Amino acid sequence: TIVILDFGSQTTQLIARRVREAGVYCEIHPCTIAPEAVVEMNPTGLILSGGPMSVYDEGAPQVDPSLFEMTGEAGEPVPVLGICYGLQAMATALGGKVEASDRREFGHADLVGHAETPLFAGIPTHTRVWMSHGDHLTKVPEGFRAIAATDNAPLAAVAHESRPLFGVQFHPEVVHTDDGARLLQNFALAVCSARGDWTTESFIDEKIREIRETVGDHHVVLGLSGGVDSSVAAALLHKAIGDQLTCIFVDNGLLRAGEFEQVQTTFRDGFHIDLRAVDASELFLSRLADVADPEEKRKIIGAAFIDVFTEETHKLEEELGHRPKFLAQGTLYPDVIESVSFKGPSATIKSHHNVGGLPEKLGFELLEPFRELFKDEVREVGTELGVPDAIIRRHPFPGPGLAVRILGPITRADADLLRQADTIWLDELETSGTYDDVWQAFAVLLPVKSVGVMGDYRTYEQAVCLRAVTSTDGMTADWAKLPYEVLGRASNRIINEVRGINRVAYDVSSKPPATIEWE
Ligand code: XMP
Repeated sequence: TIVILDFGSQTTQLIARRVREAGVYCEIHPCTIAPEAVVEMNPTGLILSGGPMSVYDEGAPQVDPSLFEMTGEAGEPVPVLGICYGLQAMATALGGKVEASDRREFGHADLVGHAETPLFAGIPTHTRVWMSHGDHLTKVPEGFRAIAATDNAPLAAVAHESRPLFGVQFHPEVVHTDDGARLLQNFALAVCSARGDWTTESFIDEKIREIRETVGDHHVVLGLSGGVDSSVAAALLHKAIGDQLTCIFVDNGLLRAGEFEQVQTTFRDGFHIDLRAVDASELFLSRLADVADPEEKRKIIGAAFIDVFTEETHKLEEELGHRPKFLAQGTLYPDVIESVSFKGPSATIKSHHNVGGLPEKLGFELLEPFRELFKDEVREVGTELGVPDAIIRRHPFPGPGLAVRILGPITRADADLLRQADTIWLDELETSGTYDDVWQAFAVLLPVKSVGVMGDYRTYEQAVCLRAVTSTDGMTADWAKLPYEVLGRASNRIINEVRGINRVAYDVSSKPPATIEWE
């Protein structure tokens, strides 16, 4: 394991992804973790991330010098790589000097040469790197030397003469650093001598063993949503424990067109999973009648889901003669990191809650096989397990479903109308080959009517707004610059094929300040 200490950088997760792409397992921990706890993890290497603070700020996180003295099983020193703030914290801890620059350096810089070190193996002497810092190193600690420079920064990368301690001022984890992935791979494989055997197959084998051991002869329930995470979790658990898994899939009346049937076909017929598909649309829609407030909608849907889920598990308990012990969830690593990551001295630590998920009070033990995976890794696991491509590639879909895309009170008729428009929109994205270019795309039903003309008739019908955004994590998003032809075809088809809609708009707002969903 390579341990990454997070000093609060926006790009800490990217460091982890690059290391894993090199086939090396790594974990992110907050920089406030006790040094003994790091030693106990017995890491093969340590990476110190960037961070927003200045090392001399009050309350700025420091590195415990003992972390530079760690040794491996054969007594060999554990290598450390400091990135940006991580470098500055390392240098400060070891007696170097960091100073504020007159101005922040932000953007591309040219690395104009580097020393022969395993860290730079295979990297051209001239290469572009990405800088983003205010402070910089002005004096290296004793025993260190510069191993790379830019025009602006004579100490763009440093290394200790005899110990495996490295630091880079630039950010190798971002794509803007041309050879950054190679540098992190070099650190993991060449400097730390980690075995590059962290692969999808090895993950699956290991998880299956672990799940079997944890579950024993107990029973597991899983709330299947049809999304990537819960679908792949279902496939993995089924492979591990077969009939000891029961999936519960609830139709809340707010799913996309054909979803209820498709999920059943895939998992019941395809995987032979014990799947209980419950049509609870009447319950959900009746509880939602006349409710216009988005947060109120979310609360009602969350509570109704718990009611239906509880009722189903009771039925299951009666059938089995015992209560299922585990609840499986597709929680991903970013959610886990989010709840523990370092947010500066004043920030409180946020507790994780799976949006639209089930509360702990249901009394199950949680099984979260993807707690250490990123979404793209889950996708790879799913592909390996034979989960259909259509599910693997699927855009994220909010727990409350179409409820937050029908502005104002919800009726079944409106949900049907929106489903038709949404299907055409997604269909046009698929046909034009743009579906995979966007993070999320959907239609929103607006609570307005407008005048139109169709043939010789005046119409007075509803409007939909189409939304498509690009994003890497849903935290920020840009409206997708799709070709006009795609927008035009979707608009034409929706107005012609969906009776009740006579106007189509396209949402050109980004997040922030707008959000991805309209409610
Ligand atoms: P916003 O609208 O906040 O959405 O920009 C960011 C991402 O979160 C999804 N989303 C939800 N997911 N329950 C969920 O499970 C919710 O209540 C919810 N609201 C928004 C949204 O689809 C997008 O991917």
